[in-house]
Amino acid sequence: MTVISSSFVLVFLLLASLCCAAPATNPKATTISIVASKPTSSLQSAVPKAAASSQSAVPKPAASSQPAAKAPPALLSQATADEAGGGVPSGPLPATSFTPNAVQLFKVANFIENIESAFFAQVLQSLGKDQNFNAPATDGRSIANVTSQIAAQELVHIATVGGLLGAAGEQAVPACANVVGVTDTNDFLARSNVITSASIGVIIGLISTLAMSDPTLVRPLASILSTESQQDTFFRMSGNNTPSAAPFNTGLSTTFAYNIALTFVDPRSCPQLMPLPILPSLNLTSPMMTATAPVTPPTSITFNATEVPRDGNLYVGWVNQANPVVYTNVTLKNGVGSADVPKGLTGITFAALTAQMTEITVDGLSNVTLAGPAAVLLS
Ligand SMILES: *[C@@H]1O[C@H](CO)[C@@H](O)[C@H](O)[C@H]1NC(C)=O
Ligand SMILES: *[C@@H]1O[C@H](CO)[C@@H](O)[C@H](O)[C@H]1NC(C)=O
Ligand SMILES: *[C@@H]1O[C@H](CO)[C@@H](O)[C@H](O)[C@H]1NC(C)=O
Ligand SMILES: *[C@@H]1O[C@H](CO)[C@@H](O)[C@H](O)[C@H]1NC(C)=O
Ligand SMILES: *[C@@H]1O[C@H](CO)[C@@H](O)[C@H](O)[C@H]1NC(C)=O
Repeated sequence: MTVISSSFVLVFLLLASLCCAAPATNPKATTISIVASKPTSSLQSAVPKAAASSQSAVPKPAASSQPAAKAPPALLSQATADEAGGGVPSGPLPATSFTPNAVQLFKVANFIENIESAFFAQVLQSLGKDQNFNAPATDGRSIANVTSQIAAQELVHIATVGGLLGAAGEQAVPACANVVGVTDTNDFLARSNVITSASIGVIIGLISTLAMSDPTLVRPLASILSTESQQDTFFRMSGNNTPSAAPFNTGLSTTFAYNIALTFVDPRSCPQLMPLPILPSLNLTSPMMTATAPVTPPTSITFNATEVPRDGNLYVGWVNQANPVVYTNVTLKNGVGSADVPKGLTGITFAALTAQMTEITVDGLSNVTLAGPAAVLLS
């Protein structure tokens, strides 16, 4: 039980990283400087309020229950933990050895989680007067109410991840300062779906990597994964989509998730970038990312190709569900690129411009991507 609860801490770290990805389709959105809503003064360990069950050990601040171990920094207010439904996992820190691989993946997760948190915090401020955002639904909760809880959960994830990295003798990743703003509730829902889908996608990838290097982290990650899916379901349904569009969610590489997350911020405002490639964005001109999937799924995409190399054949690699990457040909005409959407893709898919069509894994495609990934909502 102890091992499991400690792995939960790690899982939360990973969740954070998973959460934040967004399409770069909104280059003209304004950049808003975020006022940190993370409480830095009232520091206290949160007690899990809604902790279920039998396996909850001592519902006391971690610090007091393990005086010998280096306790994670307590960065959470009780109010945040209450709103989130619980705080940083209690109990001893994970007994697992943090492999260098796991440290690196947790830092990527920390980076993405920071962005996700800042995105939700920014939206709660900027849409404070938006009627669709604040109107209560029949259950009495508005989109703002639910988003507020999700934002609190992100703060718990960040505190948890930071604490785990600290226990491994590593610095937490500092947050990027400037987040790209949203224009309205529909824009928010569209981008939230992208972020959570990217988060889900990177967690799927992290689990398969950590299963080999740090297997005790798999269980907590799987727990985080299902929470992310619940959050995505909320965003999808708020946008009048079916709760789940496909039998499988789509796994992503850290590089793809990182690049999606970077579209939510001004990268120049990030004190520390990750040692991952920053790819040119694939600037779609159709379909634009929307909260609601089109009634008829798009059969092609178009993108601004003025900066795209003209020599040789180009392809779009499509990542969807648990399938191998599939490719369609790119046609360039008057500075506009177009490619068909392969048949059989559903839900949200990720498209990347490339000059080859032999890589069948998303990791392989990530190494040879010329621009992208771009999120495309099909259903
Ligand atoms: C929703 O948020 C408003 C504004 O913060 C708050 O007054 C209200 O109690 C919340 N409703 C629920 C059901 O949480
Ligand atoms: C295409 O991109 C170029 C530079 O990247 C920009 O100058 C141009 O306005 C864009 N065209 C459209 C239609 O967005
Ligand atoms: C997409 O647009 C950005 C900003 O205009 C530009 O820097 C980038 O090169 C474009 N990507 C492609 C593949 O043209
Ligand atoms: C795509 O391009 C390849 C050559 O790279 C060609 O063999 C193939 O027929 C093309 N497919 C379609 C559907 O046009
Ligand atoms: C991608 O590139 C990295 C760095 O060169 C390499 O270590 C990795 O094996 C490559 N992955 C795939 C799937 O080709």
